[in-house]
Amino acid sequence: MTITAKGLDGIIVGDTKLSQVNGEEGKLIYAGYDIDQVAHLSFEEVCHLFLFGNLANTDQKESLKQNLNNRYGIAQKISDFICENALNQDPMSTLRTAVSMLSTFRKEPDITNEAELKDCALDLIAKTSAITAAIASVRQGQSPIKAKPNFSFAQNFLYMSTGQECNETLVKTMDTALVLHMDHGFNASTFTARVVTSSLSDMISAVVAAIGSLKGPLHGGANTAVMNMLMEIGSIENIEPWLDNALSTKRKIMGFGHRVYKTVDPRAKHLKKMSQEWGEKTGQQKWFLMSQKLESLMFEKKGLNANVDFYSASTYYTMGIQPDMYTPIFAVARIVGWCAHIMEQLKDNRIMRPKSNYIGEINKIL
Ligand code: SDX
Repeated sequence: MTITAKGLDGIIVGDTKLSQVNGEEGKLIYAGYDIDQVAHLSFEEVCHLFLFGNLANTDQKESLKQNLNNRYGIAQKISDFICENALNQDPMSTLRTAVSMLSTFRKEPDITNEAELKDCALDLIAKTSAITAAIASVRQGQSPIKAKPNFSFAQNFLYMSTGQECNETLVKTMDTALVLHMDHGFNASTFTARVVTSSLSDMISAVVAAIGSLKGPLHGGANTAVMNMLMEIGSIENIEPWLDNALSTKRKIMGFGHRVYKTVDPRAKHLKKMSQEWGEKTGQQKWFLMSQKLESLMFEKKGLNANVDFYSASTYYTMGIQPDMYTPIFAVARIVGWCAHIMEQLKDNRIMRPKSNYIGEINKIL
């Protein structure tokens, strides 16, 4: 039976127990838990759910924190690459290459060995955070910063990115943002990871391919594009004229619309609240107020809702994070989902091979 669906719209290509995106009701389930129940848990608690099948209890949370703390170190050659390139290349390209270099310094896991796959996953989760943080610190004129042995994942990510021991509120916000971005069904980058895995290629190849997919502005690159859009608009007064002009030229408004959600993205609700809180805390309410106005106008004019990328932009900006680091931060979270999906794909694999509709010429003569 042949089904034609551009962009695989509406096509189910496999089963998963990891997350369910309910587009009609605007609900997201993480391995049985509604996102609203787990959104404010720590990175470690929810990462444990995806890698080991249960939300971490107190001991498991501490043990995972220590396990990750032992893995942040990156080879000198990778650190040198970051120092040489982070200032003159977009951060996602630097991240993609640096993560790919990891395969030079660790043996590939035996894809039939669950323990080796989990070990590689934990390495990738810790080292993607350390690499992203090193990119951020080099782009701010610092050298890569070593992690602190007793810090949590979110605390260490912020510390390695800035060299500052961040306050509890900042760490809590980062924890929530990372949890909200951790997994989301067969989105483009996760599906990419599963396609690469389906040929029985290795975990690092699958993750590098997923980083490439996430980089695109229609996917993970949208959060950076949202902040650049808000800065281009400049003021709340300019929003409606800017939007009317953009829509008249068929421009895609970043941070809006979704292939699956036909109502509000449940993650956007949490990020909207954090954007408002951080705007008030820093006296930069402008970005939240502009976002709120744009959100209501987009619904009024196009019937489109904000997605996860829309309010993450103003939240990260008021937290003091540079816009071009937003997509790498998305990767720091989503690598947990990618690794879980890679391991799930290997458990019940069939190589992905859709058909195509040839519309080219035939019977041409030399
Ligand atoms: C993420 O899939 C996931 O789960 C992804 C994600 C995850 O957690 O992994 O949720 C993360 O990637 C969120 C999406 C981030 N991208 C953006 O914010 C970029 C802007 N959004 C659009 O490019 C678009 O909405 C997509 C890519 C998100 C969805 O694309 P679709 O499903 O292919 O929709 P479409 O482009 O076919 O649009 C359908 C209609 C079109 O109108 P017509 O041409 O039919 O008249 O809606 C319009 C589009 O023009 N439309 C938009 C729009 N999104 C859709 N018009 C203006 N601005 C937009 N953002």
